[in-house]
Amino acid sequence: MGSSLLEGIVKSDNFDGLLDVIEPAIQDSSKEDFKKSKVNFYSDIRENKDTINYDLIIVATKPNIYEEIFNGLKNNLIINDKTLIVSILAGIRISKIEEIVGSIPIIRAMPNIASSVLEGMTALIGNKKITDKDILNVDLIFELIGEKIWLKNEAQMDSFTAISGSGPAYFFFFTECLKNIAIEEGFTEDVSNKISQQIIIGSGKLVKDTGIDPRELRENVTSPNGTTEAGLKVLADNKTGLLDKLRQAIIEAKNRSIEISDN
Ligand SMILES: NC(=O)c1ccc[n+]([C@@H]2O[C@H](COP(=O)([O-])OP(=O)(O)OC[C@H]3O[C@@H](n4cnc5c(N)ncnc54)[C@H](OP(=O)(O)O)[C@@H]3O)[C@@H](O)[C@H]2O)c1
Repeated sequence: MGSSLLEGIVKSDNFDGLLDVIEPAIQDSSKEDFKKSKVNFYSDIRENKDTINYDLIIVATKPNIYEEIFNGLKNNLIINDKTLIVSILAGIRISKIEEIVGSIPIIRAMPNIASSVLEGMTALIGNKKITDKDILNVDLIFELIGEKIWLKNEAQMDSFTAISGSGPAYFFFFTECLKNIAIEEGFTEDVSNKISQQIIIGSGKLVKDTGIDPRELRENVTSPNGTTEAGLKVLADNKTGLLDKLRQAIIEAKNRSIEISDN
């Protein structure tokens, strides 16, 4: 996720600042990818101790080491109420970060995996310390890797995580189910892969390129008494259909998100 953001930022015409990346086991090939950009690589935060007054710090490590990471920032970098911290760590509430670094500007971001192909969906929420300039800068960054929205409150992050963070996996699973059914119907594995993958790619492209509401797209391909209508009768059934199952799935995912954040 961190490299997707870095790629987006260095490719952007809007960015002409200095970028430092701290990553313990950076590959030489990754350094090579950014050779032409103004990016410096460090393997340990202590190499930057008290040297630079960063405007913005993005934290993209695994959430389970958040205490070590934010203590590392606090103890080694110059952090004050003008430093904006952006955390993409799933399940780590802003209050937990404030407990370590103090009451400075903090924005929590929840991108999804499609950010790696610059088609991500990110939700953003900040604490009371953030300024209009912080909002503008963070908008610019997350627009580089897809679409973004600002949440009204941090509690919405759990619903967003269940819908959008986990959303790509729901579509991957749908694709996987289509593939398995194609195999059951007698197609080879290769052909089944091709059919199921092209359906998700083609449908997504139609939604994006035409801008037509998915409901209208669905109605357009559903002729009365046709094959699609027969299939949709099962999928769109009020009681046993997909809507109900998806709702149950999202409630479960949301509850898990709350549970993880409470720990
Ligand atoms: N992937 C997603 O779809 C997604 C969506 C939303 C939010 N997130 C959040 O994004 C974060 C990163 O996820 P990811 O999937 O990109 O995980 P990842 O591939 O494991 O990336 C974590 C990175 O942090 C580096 N790291 C470890 N210790 C560090 C340290 N002390 N200082 C600096 N860097 C350090 C790791 O380096 P090494 O590999 O050398 O250990 C690795 O490059 C997570 O908090 C996750 O909750 C991910």
